[in-house]
Amino acid sequence: MNDYRKFSEILCKSRHAVALTGAGISVESGIPDFRSKDGMWSRFDPAEYAYIESFRSDPVKVWKMLAEMDSLFARVQPNAAHAALSEFEKLGLLKAVVTQNIDSLHQRAGSSNVIEFHGHFRSLHCDCCGKIQMRQDTKLDALPPRCSCGGPLRPDIIFFGEGIPGDAYRRAFEEAEKCDLMLVIGTSALVSPASMLPRVAKKAGALLLEINPTASELSHSITDLLVMEPAGKALGAILEIVREIRS
Ligand code: APR
Repeated sequence: MNDYRKFSEILCKSRHAVALTGAGISVESGIPDFRSKDGMWSRFDPAEYAYIESFRSDPVKVWKMLAEMDSLFARVQPNAAHAALSEFEKLGLLKAVVTQNIDSLHQRAGSSNVIEFHGHFRSLHCDCCGKIQMRQDTKLDALPPRCSCGGPLRPDIIFFGEGIPGDAYRRAFEEAEKCDLMLVIGTSALVSPASMLPRVAKKAGALLLEINPTASELSHSITDLLVMEPAGKALGAILEIVREIRS
């Protein structure tokens, strides 16, 4: 039996499957990941761009990276991997997607139960006065965009050095505790606490299926089945088999 079929059969037999996704799932949409050779961190040193202290000391510089991400998100489309996860949810096979991504591509593909562990780019807020403003109501012609109080606006994402949004943290760990299957897709699993989720799931008895063209931290330790293919290619094929099993 090939790995696509094994993956599909395990998914179809699961009671409560959840997915944990990372930047790799959006690579086939045209968004680079972070840690691959040509990833974001090869162009933007995280020590200078990714910490909350970086934003506080030089918001203009950090906004150069944020504005580039923002314009990329506006140009790209969900790919076959996002579409397959959305379809698995509609088929009742996938209960939740926990994503580390801030690109909203899961929602744009139609997934409804998406837990955004690192926040999102749809709205911005001001750390000085707390005001929240929608992205669509914010002009990015002068950087940083400013709040009516004068403070710099920042997207509702998490910089290194900040805590995970409480509700997302609670819901993600609840899903990890109760799932019997976790699909780990396109993440290096190097960043904590997101990287704890597969470990919590495994400890609670779940099977781990992973899709990643390159082995991750988990691949040779706790992953039960590793499909070494790009996510869109693999999940597109897996969706076909799932439909055939369910027909
Ligand atoms: N399909 C599946 N996986 C892929 C693909 C693809 N087409 N292309 C690349 N990958 C894999 C890479 O092999 C790598 O293991 O996706 C993974 C991406 O890893 P990272 O770049 O580390 O991204 P991620 O795991 O999401 O990073 C976590 O770190 O700095 C941050 O906050 C940022 O949310 C991000 C967090």
